[in-house]
Amino acid sequence: MEPIIIQGDSSIVLNREILRYNNFKPFDIVYLDPPYSTGYAFSHYDDDMSNKQWRVWFRGILQKVKDIIHDESLIIIHLDDNQSHYAKVFADEIFGEQSFRNEIVLKRTQKNTNESQVNVLKRSHDICLIYKSKGKLNNITILNKRKPYWHSFGAPGIRQTLEYELFGYRPKKGNHWRWSEIRAKESIKRGILRPNPKTGRPEYLVSPGKQSLGTLWTDKISYNNQKSFQTAKSTAIIKRLLSLYPANKKDVAVIDPFLGSGTTLEACIELGFSFVGIDLNIAESIKKRFDVKIITDKESNKACTDFGHVIRTAAKW
Ligand SMILES: C[S@@+](CC[C@H](N)C(=O)[O-])C[C@H]1O[C@@H](n2cnc3c(N)ncnc32)[C@H](O)[C@@H]1O
Repeated sequence: MEPIIIQGDSSIVLNREILRYNNFKPFDIVYLDPPYSTGYAFSHYDDDMSNKQWRVWFRGILQKVKDIIHDESLIIIHLDDNQSHYAKVFADEIFGEQSFRNEIVLKRTQKNTNESQVNVLKRSHDICLIYKSKGKLNNITILNKRKPYWHSFGAPGIRQTLEYELFGYRPKKGNHWRWSEIRAKESIKRGILRPNPKTGRPEYLVSPGKQSLGTLWTDKISYNNQKSFQTAKSTAIIKRLLSLYPANKKDVAVIDPFLGSGTTLEACIELGFSFVGIDLNIAESIKKRFDVKIITDKESNKACTDFGHVIRTAAKW
């Protein structure tokens, strides 16, 4: 389905009416990256609610999310330690404590300070709270950082079928070769089995394996560091977060009530997921990045008027 962008206030727009943009079905993934209650005025929006106001407001947003999801929906709440602990309490209450799966820690760019004492340490991480009432999460794996290296092809133990001659050598006494003769011949052709340049004895190339990522994601920076949109997230990180949703299911529908620069839209286009995004102000960068057609109030039907302006997008790439 063609992605949809709605210009409006999520505290109003996020209700069951919005399901019309997903064939009247609940959304599979909700990615929430709201203002963090930092007190800053960013270039595109003011993050100036008092802590108390923010908490009442965000609790209301989570309650609205509850109305547009199903039992297996994945909810991702992206914040930092300004409010994440309050958000966790609200989300536990609204989605159920048993639905809480993980807190994922994401790396921010570290800004240096010359001050010898500070009120607060520089925030160098973001937090994503992951909720899902039923069903599994995908186990995200990444390649080990270890470089490939050559290792002796001999392994301890007697296995007669693995004691053939290779490069003029047989395994040492009490050892065997690691692979069958057929596999060894194929591996020589592929360049991953060779005579050791010094000793001539067989050795094979150990490739970096995969490892489960767990909850500390320090291998990538979570921000895009765009000058044009200060709080834009990295597309790679958003793709990874969305990939927690088991991908054996086709037609994954994502909603992002705080669209910002459109990172989630870009991630969804790359993943082939359908998408609805909302923001109070549709950033110019979105209009540049995606071919957007703005349906004005005059052209739109009543529901659209209630919803603000609906902008249909067609990706430029
Ligand atoms: C942290 S930014 C989102 C950044 C985005 N994930 C990205 O990668 O570019 C928060 C966004 O929420 C929007 N926003 C703030 N209050 C809102 C509200 N009540 N309804 C809808 N959008 C809102 C702001 O305009 C801003 O674009």
